[in-house]
Amino acid sequence: MSARIISGTEIAAQIREELKKEVAELKEKHGIVPGLITILVGKNPASVSYVTGKQKTAHELGFYSLQDDQPENISEADLLKLIDKYNNDPKIHGILVQLPIPKHIDEKKVLNAINPDKDVDAFHPVNVGRLMIGGDEAKFLPCTPAGIQELIMRSGFETSGAEVVVVGRSNIVGKPIANMLLQKGKGANATVTVVHTGTKNLEAHCKRADILIVAAGVPHLVKPEWIKPGACVIDVGVNRVGEKISEKTGKTVPILRGDVDFDAAKEIAGAITPVPGGVGPMTITMLMKNTVTSAKMAAGIK
Ligand code: GUN
Repeated sequence: MSARIISGTEIAAQIREELKKEVAELKEKHGIVPGLITILVGKNPASVSYVTGKQKTAHELGFYSLQDDQPENISEADLLKLIDKYNNDPKIHGILVQLPIPKHIDEKKVLNAINPDKDVDAFHPVNVGRLMIGGDEAKFLPCTPAGIQELIMRSGFETSGAEVVVVGRSNIVGKPIANMLLQKGKGANATVTVVHTGTKNLEAHCKRADILIVAAGVPHLVKPEWIKPGACVIDVGVNRVGEKISEKTGKTVPILRGDVDFDAAKEIAGAITPVPGGVGPMTITMLMKNTVTSAKMAAGIK
């Protein structure tokens, strides 16, 4: 039987509708407008495209939202000064510096300079620590893991007591999603295993998973025989494996491939996310959610 397709595109649209209403209500009842600044250093085409998507969504939701483009050769000191300016701007509730940044700038210094209460990426060590503690302590959840958790919950999978296997241990996806799913509480309380490049028998671990989350960055790493029949499979991989001409626009577009062999896996899994259209659309949406949370926190609204 073919798996149910978990559409990130549809679930993200649903959450954006909810956020749009919340933003309108915040404006009407409290006179608050969530403010987001995205800082882009240089002109990396993928980064330009990501930042444009973030700004477009923020405007659609009714945010006060600005794009701050900086030249490739900006000094570290000037970038830190810029962050400080937004740290002290009461109209701005969320600050995002698009990564990667040029090599002459220390990424750690930049991320650590963002006020943790405006760190809507949740990359600051204070927010990483808050996430580890869990419960009310976690102010912002990192966007991709938060999107994964929403996809699992909104597609009706029970996480409590489930065997979850996470493939990959990155700071952006693997480590935080593992931490989030092992906390006590809704959409969590799972038994979590993290596997990585040092793991001896990847296949055996994956086969035990009721929920398999793959964020390895290796195209088609997970084969259909690694999947437990009926499992929920979340594919975080977005690997560019070539280029093609889009039938719609006639433009050259990348060919994207997930970390899971989708066509074969969908015959075994109970539900699976496609690439593209799975986890991807959720990431921007959760950034918007964090910005709304930050605006409410700044105003002392629960
Ligand atoms: N570059 C690629 N993904 C991200 C992200 O989620 N946040 C930031 N700041 N940069 C990125």
